[in-house]
Amino acid sequence: MRTQSEALLLIPSILLFLLPSSILSSIPPFSCDTSNPSTKDYLFCKATLPIEQRVDDLISRLSLVEKISQLGDRAPPIPRLGLPGYKWWSEALHGVSDAGRGIHYNGSISAGTSFPQVILTAASFNPLLWYRIGEAIGTEARALYNAGQAEGLTFWAPNINIFRDPRWGRGQETPGEDPLMASRYAISYVRGVQGDSYQGDGGAGLKASACCKHFTAYDIDRWNGVLRYSFNAKVSVQDLEDTYQPPFKSCVEQGRATGIMCSYNQVNGVPTCADSNLLTKTARGLWGFYGYITSDCDAVSVIYTNQKYTRTPEDAVAITLKAGMDVNCGEYVQKYAYSAIKQGKLSENDINRALRNLFAVRMRLGLFNGSPKHGLYGDIASEQVCSSAHQYLALEAARDGIVLLKNLEQFLPLSKSKVSSLGVIGPNANRASMLLGNYYGPPCKSNTPLQVLQNYVKNTRFVAGCDTVICNTSHIDEAVKLASSVDYVILFMGLDQTVEREDFDREDLALPGMQQSLITSVARVAKRPVILVLLCGGPVDVSFVKDDEKIGSVLWGGYPGEAGGLAIAEVIFGEHNPGGRLPLTWYPQDFIRVPMTDMRMRADPASGYPGRTYRFY
Ligand SMILES: *[C@@H]1O[C@H](CO)[C@@H](O)[C@H](O)[C@H]1NC(C)=O
Ligand SMILES: *[C@@H]1O[C@H](CO)[C@@H](O)[C@H](O)[C@H]1NC(C)=O
Repeated sequence: MRTQSEALLLIPSILLFLLPSSILSSIPPFSCDTSNPSTKDYLFCKATLPIEQRVDDLISRLSLVEKISQLGDRAPPIPRLGLPGYKWWSEALHGVSDAGRGIHYNGSISAGTSFPQVILTAASFNPLLWYRIGEAIGTEARALYNAGQAEGLTFWAPNINIFRDPRWGRGQETPGEDPLMASRYAISYVRGVQGDSYQGDGGAGLKASACCKHFTAYDIDRWNGVLRYSFNAKVSVQDLEDTYQPPFKSCVEQGRATGIMCSYNQVNGVPTCADSNLLTKTARGLWGFYGYITSDCDAVSVIYTNQKYTRTPEDAVAITLKAGMDVNCGEYVQKYAYSAIKQGKLSENDINRALRNLFAVRMRLGLFNGSPKHGLYGDIASEQVCSSAHQYLALEAARDGIVLLKNLEQFLPLSKSKVSSLGVIGPNANRASMLLGNYYGPPCKSNTPLQVLQNYVKNTRFVAGCDTVICNTSHIDEAVKLASSVDYVILFMGLDQTVEREDFDREDLALPGMQQSLITSVARVAKRPVILVLLCGGPVDVSFVKDDEKIGSVLWGGYPGEAGGLAIAEVIFGEHNPGGRLPLTWYPQDFIRVPMTDMRMRADPASGYPGRTYRFY
């Protein structure tokens, strides 16, 4: 509960959010509109001046209350200066998503290209492909903006934390376990999104802004009672230097990312968003970071509420802004910055410092140059979203990521003309949304593997076998009956977001529930060896398939995106030769004896600690 005096301090910022909507709707979604007569008097509108000078001019015109209003992910408009509101939070992990607040697929553009989840794209080991996907995402983002469906152009991707533990629910979002690989991914993706060339030569202006997250050593969500909101990652200087930091260093130095997100967790006892050594000395100082730093959502409030790291909310706000964070995802800073100043914990200069970074990014995006129609990216049209080129790229990425894990006596590929009947079995065979993983937007189109296979083989029949991937109620009998009556059998098994997701890590590595039993029962009765397709982000222990001669071929397809169903069928029927390689170690189930909280990379034979990733395990 809030005291009365605290409530009084909040009044100025509350007023700002209650401006009549008639005023708001009169502001176009960009600053420095030439039809506004004041525009020519504002230095901050003069596109020929250096950004720093324009930013300083703008900040000098703001009241303290207006300044504070800009420190949350939903920055309200400042009508008297012709500034529209700005939404800092948008997502574009593997396609422009509507998971944040800035993107709306409710106008003439109702869908965007949904590329494979990152862990599968990573398996192509192809930086040029990663760049081209970033480029397509930047283009679709601009098209959405030009169509009036983006209230921001700052995207909180890529996720480049090292996939350190196979149970991590968000490992699927990352390019895997190797620091060099994650670095190369970060560089390629960021250059593509932001409009730089593949080699890194800067374009004429920022196309969209990418954000290296989650800075740093964040890779636990919720495991065995440990929550990301309060986890203290104990990391050695050596592991920090040669495992956790390299992707971020590359993302900033070579990718020239314009955003960084500090994480929820602490590193060695200090919340990352409150760590000036990390944000200011390392990122801005040593690496030359030029951009804005956002907190993860509510990561400032957790410093006080979950971590009890500060005595008051005001201290949490002051410590993060002084450390170098610029904007808070959430309303916490907007709520407590005024009282922090009144209590002498924060100065207006601390706020000006943050605002300089925030407005500089908005200006570099061209949002203070009048109508974007006349700007650098003004001619990117709605037709470029879901263009055939982008949709083909989504197919290419899915094809190139798919990994052939087993192929007994060259069982694959199948020849279409020789398959007279096909049995498709499994909980992942006919669900379009599971193909997209997480952080997706509405896809241009999406066909399930079953739908595509029905086009390849007329006589295709389907039994799910398990109601869900959890597979605690199964229909093995039905599946066995189907398997024994058809020419060939393809099983679609694995995981989905109900068992590995954000805020939810796995407890073990086996296939859930009765999946294994379904697979072996079906394989036993099938006329020929069966084909097993695993759709999952994190690894599963399927060592039982190794010596089972009734399981002819095994494919891993990650979460393959909108074109994933087609890509898998093309691989099965020999129209594409699978060349993907796993970007992470598939550990045996026995690995779960290792506490997920143990951040050490290197093995310690004396205590039985096995080490992590192909480098040390
Ligand atoms: C789309 O959604 C946004 C956010 O909810 C809303 O402000 C906007 O008016 C909507 N546009 C249309 C055309 O419905
Ligand atoms: C199966 O799992 C679901 C999801 O965890 C649960 O709601 C349901 O009660 C379970 N059913 C059985 C038969 O155990």
